Amino acid sequence: MRFDIISIFPEMFESPFAASIIRRAVDSGAVAIHTHNLRDWTEDRHHITDDYPYGGGPGMVMKVEPLARAVEALREKNPGAPVALLTPQGTPFNQTMARALAANPGLILVCGRYEGVDERVRAHYCDLEISIGDYVLTGGELPAMVVVDALTRLVPGVLGTPESADDESHSTGLLEYPHYTRPAEFKGLRVPDILLSGDHAKIEDWRRAQAIIRTARRRPDLISRAGLTDAERLMAEKIIRGEEP
Ligand code: ADE
Repeated sequence: MRFDIISIFPEMFESPFAASIIRRAVDSGAVAIHTHNLRDWTEDRHHITDDYPYGGGPGMVMKVEPLARAVEALREKNPGAPVALLTPQGTPFNQTMARALAANPGLILVCGRYEGVDERVRAHYCDLEISIGDYVLTGGELPAMVVVDALTRLVPGVLGTPESADDESHSTGLLEYPHYTRPAEFKGLRVPDILLSGDHAKIEDWRRAQAIIRTARRRPDLISRAGLTDAERLMAEKIIRGEEP
C-alpha cells in the first residue's frame, strides 16, 4: 500500500515511522510512505501556502493552488488512491473505516493547518474527510500518522500472525478481553484459574464473556452493533441496567 502525505511539516513524520512495526513494514516493502512538502508546489518566491480569509475573521486559510497542484501530481503517482483531508469536521475514524481504506492500493493524505483549508480543496480535490476524534489538534499531521498506523497494520504480512488483527478490540465489535502473562501470582494478585486450566474451549468462552462484560460497562454504545447472540445480548443488557453478573 502506498501512502502520500502532503504537509507543511513533513519532518514531523520522521521518527514515528522510523520505529517498530511501521519501520518493518516499510523495510519489507509491504507499505511505502512518501511525505511531501506542500511548499514544493508553490510558485511564488516566498513559498506561501496560506492567506487571509475572505470576509475577514481570525486565522489564516490554506490556499487552493498549491494543494490542488499537489493532489493532481500525487494522484498520478498513486493511481486508485482516494484523497483524504484530515480535519475535525470529517467523518469519525474507526476500525470499519480503517478496514475499508486498507482495501485500496494507496491513500493520499492532506494535512490541514491554520483555521482550515480553502473550501474548494475539500469540495473538488478530496474524496473524503477524516476526523480522529472530537477534539481540535494544531494540524492534520498527528491524525495522518494515526491513519497510516491503523491501515499499515491491516496490510497483509505486516503483523506476525494473521489472527492478531482479528481478535483485538473493535475488530470483533467488542473491546478486548483481559490479558495476563507470568507470574501466575504477583503480590497476591492471581491470574484467573481458568487461564491456567489448559481447557481451550472454556478459555474461549471466558474470554468472549469478559469482552462482552467489559464492552457493556465501558462502551455500551457498541453493544447494539456487536453481533451478539440472544443470550449474550441479554447478559449485556443486564450489565448496562446495573444488574452486574
Ligand atoms: N486536525 C485538527 N484536529 C483534527 C482532528 N481531531 N482530526 C483530524 N484532523 C484534525
